[in-house]
Amino acid sequence: MAETPGVPVAEPVGRVLLYGATGFSGRLLTRALREQGVDVVLAGRHHGRVTEMARRWHLDGRVVSLDDRLQLEAALDGIRVVLHAAGPFQRTALPMMSACLRSGTHYLDLAGEWPVFQQAMDHGDQAAGNGVMLMPGIGFSIVASDCLLALARARFPDAVALRLALSAPDVMSRGTFRSLMGLTSSTVLVRRQGTPTSVPAGSLSRCFDFGAGLRTAVAVTWPDVVISQVTRGIPTLEVYAEADWPVQVALRAGSSLAPLPQSPLGQRLLDLLSQGWPEAPSATQRQRSGFTLVVEAEDRWRRCRSLRIQTPDGYTVTAATVSAIVRRVLNGHVAAGFQSPAHLYGGSLLEESGCVLRVG
Ligand SMILES: NC(=O)c1ccc[n+]([C@@H]2O[C@H](COP(=O)([O-])OP(=O)(O)OC[C@H]3O[C@@H](n4cnc5c(N)ncnc54)[C@H](OP(=O)(O)O)[C@@H]3O)[C@@H](O)[C@H]2O)c1
Repeated sequence: MAETPGVPVAEPVGRVLLYGATGFSGRLLTRALREQGVDVVLAGRHHGRVTEMARRWHLDGRVVSLDDRLQLEAALDGIRVVLHAAGPFQRTALPMMSACLRSGTHYLDLAGEWPVFQQAMDHGDQAAGNGVMLMPGIGFSIVASDCLLALARARFPDAVALRLALSAPDVMSRGTFRSLMGLTSSTVLVRRQGTPTSVPAGSLSRCFDFGAGLRTAVAVTWPDVVISQVTRGIPTLEVYAEADWPVQVALRAGSSLAPLPQSPLGQRLLDLLSQGWPEAPSATQRQRSGFTLVVEAEDRWRRCRSLRIQTPDGYTVTAATVSAIVRRVLNGHVAAGFQSPAHLYGGSLLEESGCVLRVG
């Protein structure tokens, strides 16, 4: 596991392969990156959809399945950076990460699922040796939480416990819904005495003020608990998500069905269930929504201080943070090995991407 930044690698501007380009987030990111003048190659598994999109955008398109190791490696020819936007990443990240390691291509993705971060950390040493950067989670999750934790760390250096909470999402694409359902588990990971530790799902709740009085939130497994780059040395770390009582009840009940989504039958049921979810939120729905994140820092005398930020909706944040990070990578600001966004680019990355509406 490589947790320290690797050796900085200088490199010229290059091409970015956007895999999963035909999905909702892929389309959003194509627009955002083209507006920045980034040289994007559109890619995905579906021939008709990829070629049609490439034709419309006047861009190169590459059709390749994640199951075809050789074809995948060939698709990375001439590519400096892969931006992987085809989730659920628990199913899709590893083949692409492995192809990047073999071909010496930097790897970025939109994962919010903690096992993907574990996979990337497990390959950190190999990546460092190959001069490859593995940076999962460059969208809203985990840039927003990673940056807020880094800021809290800097502002409250005597903290021994950090508790981060996210307000409930107002909008969610089908792809996000499918990825979240795949994370159903009977346990939740929190950090205790510096080590990720399991507690029963639904058993840990706490009230946070998201700006309109105290609201209940329940502990969830968030990648920041597993990664220790920006919160190294903080013995206790918990992440919560706002949840009213029906969600709390569903969490406790759902935890008994937890192994189901991991089975082939469960995955088929999940795919069927997600067909009923709207494919993508409209621009108006997104404009009306947003997130509030709160972090509480507790010192060894149990004194608590907090920091709260407001951001636009997760997809707007994702387009902005991805653009900011891709630009940095193409300018040669990379470090080989596993990297978390705020660890390499600093806690101010979110604000520099124009995503902090209010701090309070
Ligand atoms: N980190 C963040 O804050 C953030 C923000 C936005 C999205 N996301 C994540 O990004 C992912 C995509 O979201 P979305 O809203 O764009 O979903 P979407 O509209 O359903 O698009 C999913 C894309 O992934 C492709 N895909 C799925 N499984 C694949 C596989 N096994 N092999 C190859 N391609 C595959 C699909 O290709 P086909 O069209 O061929 O099926 C499609 O292009 C989700 O996991 C979501 O949670 C994260």
